[in-house]
Amino acid sequence: MINITHRPRRNRKSAAIRNLVQENEVRVNDLIFPLFLIEGKNKKTEVASMPGIFRFSTDLLLKEIETCMKLGIMTFDIFPSISDKLKDKKASEALNKKGLYLNAIKEIKKHFPEAMIMTDVAMDPYSSDGHDGLVKNGKIVNDETLEILAKMALAQAEAGADILGPSDMMDGRVGYIRETLDENGFTDVSIMSYTAKYASAFYGPFRDALSSAPKFGDKKTYQMNPANSKEALIEADLDMNEGADFLMVKPALSYMDVIKLLNDNFNLPIAAYNVSGEYAMVKAAAAKGWIEGDKIRDEILLSLKRAGASVILTYFAKEFALAKR
Ligand code: PBG
Repeated sequence: MINITHRPRRNRKSAAIRNLVQENEVRVNDLIFPLFLIEGKNKKTEVASMPGIFRFSTDLLLKEIETCMKLGIMTFDIFPSISDKLKDKKASEALNKKGLYLNAIKEIKKHFPEAMIMTDVAMDPYSSDGHDGLVKNGKIVNDETLEILAKMALAQAEAGADILGPSDMMDGRVGYIRETLDENGFTDVSIMSYTAKYASAFYGPFRDALSSAPKFGDKKTYQMNPANSKEALIEADLDMNEGADFLMVKPALSYMDVIKLLNDNFNLPIAAYNVSGEYAMVKAAAAKGWIEGDKIRDEILLSLKRAGASVILTYFAKEFALAKR
């Protein structure tokens, strides 16, 4: 008999004891389901690079939300696909109260007041340049973009949005949006800032879903360099002081160290965005029979919680909730 005092395997000896000592768990309540919105009636088209994920017209989106709420999902992040003819340099369509997006937000809140609706604050879905900010002489200009973003944010709040998600990475946008909301009486509308949003190739399928890829160049002058983590602390400090209610890290999987870094240093809830490319990789490999997709999905979501994310935005939300039933 070898004398080993500490045998960590004792705490793994049965399912019951493993469950007893389990440190983290993913709840359906932790998840936000991103949904894609399109024009029309009774329309539903699958995103080719994201099997199982659809773009819905408003009527069908309402049905989808109802189904998801029955599964326990309560928070939805809505992204619009805007037709090219409505796009311009200033993203004017974003302010159109009768337009696709604001109208859908209003409809959703009318039907499901108890759901939490998150919106995206950035110019890219409406911009003829396909950038998150205003383009002048080939440059993305910061301060003029803030005015457009603040108007967009206010219009979304007026339509009934509960949580605004500035995903543009302009400097000063959280404070500028917070001030605009407060001046107009929307002190209860939350801001989930895309705090550490990296210039990532993992967004590819999302840009396919919305045809929102940049028309020239890349997003490296505003989204962060994947090589950096100290920079995430600078962004988080600013966002917290400017009034953000949540700090988000995006993408999630290659940036778990950043999730942990922010969770260790800030007392706000940390959100992780398990992005389109991360979803697509799992689905593609699972379709080939190379991995067990369902198990990998659960392991990914669990690992994000372990890293320190209390909220996870994920395209797996609905299938996770279905599997949990
Ligand atoms: C746009 C935006 C993007 C995503 C969310 N909001 C794409 C981008 O910055 O190009 C990506 C989400 C995903 O890949 O799932 N501001």
